[in-house]
Amino acid sequence: MLLMSGSYHTIQGAEKNPSYTVAVNDPIAPELGEVQMHAVKPKAPVVGRVVSTESCMQGRSASFVRHVSIDVSGTPLAGSFRAGQAFGVIAPGEDGRGKAHAVRLYSLACPTLGEDGSGNVVSTTVKRVIDEYSAEKETDDQEAHHLFLGVCSNYLCDLKVGDEVLVTGPAGKRFLLPADPSKHDYLFIATGTGIAPYYGMVRELLQGSGDPASSEIHLVMGTPYTTDLLYDEYFASMAEEHEGFHYHRVISRSDVRREYVDRYIDREMDSTFRSFFSNPRTLMYLCGLEGMESGMYRMLARHGLSEGFVEVKEPLTLEEHETWDAKSMKRNVKSGPRSLVEVY
Ligand code: A2P
Repeated sequence: MLLMSGSYHTIQGAEKNPSYTVAVNDPIAPELGEVQMHAVKPKAPVVGRVVSTESCMQGRSASFVRHVSIDVSGTPLAGSFRAGQAFGVIAPGEDGRGKAHAVRLYSLACPTLGEDGSGNVVSTTVKRVIDEYSAEKETDDQEAHHLFLGVCSNYLCDLKVGDEVLVTGPAGKRFLLPADPSKHDYLFIATGTGIAPYYGMVRELLQGSGDPASSEIHLVMGTPYTTDLLYDEYFASMAEEHEGFHYHRVISRSDVRREYVDRYIDREMDSTFRSFFSNPRTLMYLCGLEGMESGMYRMLARHGLSEGFVEVKEPLTLEEHETWDAKSMKRNVKSGPRSLVEVY
C-alpha cells in the first residue's frame, strides 16, 4: 500500500477495508466538490422525452452505437447532475422471472449543463448488445446458444424522437472533474463506449462557460476498428483548435498495428507520457473494459510510476507486479487518489 504524509480519510468503497487511505491535504489529490445522488430514485422514476438519436458509427461498422439525448426538464433530474455521473433507464416490460426490469445505469455523455446548456437535456452513448447466449452457471442449459439481445440497450437504441422513457439518477460520486479543473492536467483513457463521459468532460473543459481550460489533456481511445471511433471528428477538431488537447486513436484489430490502450501508452511512454505521469497535476481517468484497469496498473508499476495512481496491499508488492494475477489484483490492488475509474 502506498502511504502518504498528512491526515487521512477513507474514500468511496474503502469503508469495508480501512487500510486503503487517502491523504486529504495532499496537493495531488483532486478536490471533487459537491455532487448530488439519486435526485430521482429508482422506485419513483420520472418521464423524460427523447429529443435526438443519432448513430455514432462511421462507415460500415459491425457495432451499433447511438448518441441519445433525453429532455428531463421539469423533473428533479434537471440541473442535478455533473459530467461523469450516470443516469438510470427503466425498460418497459418484465424480465424472465416476471419482475419489472431493473434500472440500468448509463454514463452521461453531456457536460454538467446538459446538451442544451441549461441542465435540461441529458445524453448517453449506448451500444446495442447483440450476442450469442452461453451458459454461465452449471444449472444453465449448457447446449443453448441462441441469439441474445440486451434488453435496455436495444430499447434505448430503438427509441424515436418524441418517445417517452423512464429515467432516474444521477448516480456516481467519484468519476468527476475536479471542482477547480484548472488545478490539474488530464489523461482520459477509454475503450469503446467508455468514451461517453469524456465527450461531456472535454466539452466542459474546452467549450464550457468561460475560457477554455489551459490544462494539458490527453485522450486515448481504444476501439477494434477505425469505424468504431466514437465522436472522432469532434475530438480531432478539438485537437486542431486547442494546443493543449491531444487525441490518440488506438486500434486493436488494425492490419498495421494491433494494440490496446495500455500497450500504446507503454510504447509512447518516453516520447509523451512519462513526464505527464510524473507531473503532480496529472489525474488519470479510466472508463471502459475492466481488463484495461489491471493492464494500466501493471504497466505503471513496471515503469515505477504508480505513486498516487495505484495502491497495493500486502501480500502483493509493487515490485512483484509481473506476477500479479487477475484474482489477487481484484483483492489487493486499488486505484490511488489520482486515478478516477469507471470500469465494467
Ligand atoms: P479487442 O476486442 O480487439 O480484443 P468495443 O467496446 O467497441 O468492443 O471496444 C473495446 C476495445 O477495447 C477493443 O478494441 C478491444 O479489443 C479492447 N480491449 C479488450 N480487452 C482489453 C484490455 N484488457 N485492455 C485494453 N483494451 C482492451
